[in-house]
Amino acid sequence: MPLSGDQLRALTNEPVPNHMKHRWFCLGGTPAYLFVVQIVTGILLAIYYQPSSGTAYESIQHITDDVAFGWYFRSLHKWAATLMVASVILHQMRVYFTAAYRKPREVNWMIGMCLLLCTLGLGFTGYSLVFEQLSYWGATVGGNILNTVPGLGDPLKKMLLAGDVYNEQTLPRFFILHAAILPATMILLILVHILLIRLHGVTELRFEDDPSGPDHFNFFPDHFYTELILGLTLMIVLSALATIFPAAMGPKADPLITPDVIKPEWFFYVTFRWLKLFGPTFAVLSMGFIVCAMFIWPWIDGWLRKVTGTEEVSTYIGIVAVLVIIALTVWEAAVAH
Ligand code: HEM
Repeated sequence: MPLSGDQLRALTNEPVPNHMKHRWFCLGGTPAYLFVVQIVTGILLAIYYQPSSGTAYESIQHITDDVAFGWYFRSLHKWAATLMVASVILHQMRVYFTAAYRKPREVNWMIGMCLLLCTLGLGFTGYSLVFEQLSYWGATVGGNILNTVPGLGDPLKKMLLAGDVYNEQTLPRFFILHAAILPATMILLILVHILLIRLHGVTELRFEDDPSGPDHFNFFPDHFYTELILGLTLMIVLSALATIFPAAMGPKADPLITPDVIKPEWFFYVTFRWLKLFGPTFAVLSMGFIVCAMFIWPWIDGWLRKVTGTEEVSTYIGIVAVLVIIALTVWEAAVAH
């Protein structure tokens, strides 16, 4: 390798600002770590999983009941998915409330938004692969929601379900999205995200109780060990969750029986409640509008600061948004319909 040890150290030894010693401020490493766990456990599950409506449910039952440690790796996959969504949301909140999306990091914020959508897409498609009642009806409801998009509804629904209704081709389509298209897109997005972080460095923040002395510390070994300890702790937490609360299975999908209560995963509760409150067409259009606004938030923030003359306006909007999201999520969790 035409690379000396000194050159390698210089390449990896990014000076890290002191505020990254606070765990909340280096949360980006957590979804990256969990994504690797998902790839490894996902590959193990794919060895036994059979993606067709005739075989999917039985193959997952086989993984859970017969395959050595199948229940464990399936449960790890499920819990790592939950923690990944949670950590992506917390990381995005940290970036938002510290205004770390401002110039020159606008594009990286947009890459982050794509990562958020891919993470949610992985959650949705993964839920559908089990082919239990809620997988089937969740996918059917998802298709019906897409159908309400004015002008594009029909093609969007057909693209998702591979037809007008759930059919033999639907599950293989979800599998390709879940196991190939979305992870490959995510790998590319994470690479660009990290590359841009290396180019810009992270936004430097100051705290009142900062110790005097140098403003930065070395990535290797200081920050590397922080991330390593975080990864090992996560592995213990994941392992404990998988053992104490292993992934279960609901009844097999039956197109003829609509369940009394259809619920998506917890991270879609907010959208589900929104749909129930405002009806499909308005809810879909308003959610589309909100997602577009989130994409271009760095510029909206700049405009708001200019118009209002205050720096904190985004913080107030963020606090209201977080409270609304929590309220709608708790509401949806608390009621059956
Ligand atoms: C799989 C998902 C993601 C991964 C693996 C990831 C990874 C990272 C890492 C390792 C950092 C370095 C600083 C830190 O740890 O906070 C970072 C910073 C950043 N991330 Fe993410 N991220 C993800 C999702 C997102 C999302 C959803 C957004 C926002 C929409 C976002 C926007 C940013 C921005 C703007 C920075 C720069 C922050 C600064 O300069 O302080 N990221 N990300």
